Amino acid sequence: MIHFDKNCPDVLFCDNRECDGEAIWKGGSHGKPSVRHLDVHPDRIVDFTSMPFPDESFWLVVFDPPHLKHCGENAWIGKKYGILKGAWREMLRDGFRECWRVLRPGGTLIFKWSEVQIPVGEIWNAIGRRPIFGTRCGKSAKTIWATFWKPANEEQMNDKQSGATE
Ligand SMILES: C[S@@+](CC[C@H](N)C(=O)[O-])C[C@H]1O[C@@H](n2cnc3c(N)ncnc32)[C@H](O)[C@@H]1O
Repeated sequence: MIHFDKNCPDVLFCDNRECDGEAIWKGGSHGKPSVRHLDVHPDRIVDFTSMPFPDESFWLVVFDPPHLKHCGENAWIGKKYGILKGAWREMLRDGFRECWRVLRPGGTLIFKWSEVQIPVGEIWNAIGRRPIFGTRCGKSAKTIWATFWKPANEEQMNDKQSGATE
């Protein structure tokens, strides 16, 4: 959904599912059913909690995980964005840790979240990090795009932030 050019050769799109034109009931009005078709065609089938890439592989990582925990299995929105199940805090923590691992020092991680059910503060607590900046958008400003930057030397950066050096 977020890719302007779905065939951009610079992008490796990963997801843990593939579906081809799955028809999903979306509701409807005036007695007319409304059916949507879902296509998800990742370049690689990957579980974001355990990625098959070496450390420090990418300059830019975009993490756009599911954000709904209450949603019917067959609801259009759940099919479109995926659903958080079970220990979702741990899953997001592990996913973020993997994104960080495969990010090159000096690289950027973009995290997208929608606060419709879970406030973003809970996510920062779950992953144990806070972004350096970001923005809200959408009709009720519930969608958040946040930016994390991986310094070349993380220890030095943390010391600097806590005022321990310099
Ligand atoms: C909000 S959508 C991302 C949409 C995507 N950014 C796009 O532009 O189309 C979240 C996606 O995460 C996928 N997902 C859920 N759990 C996953 C996991 N453990 N590993 C990889 N992908 C996962 C879902 O299948 C769903 O397609």
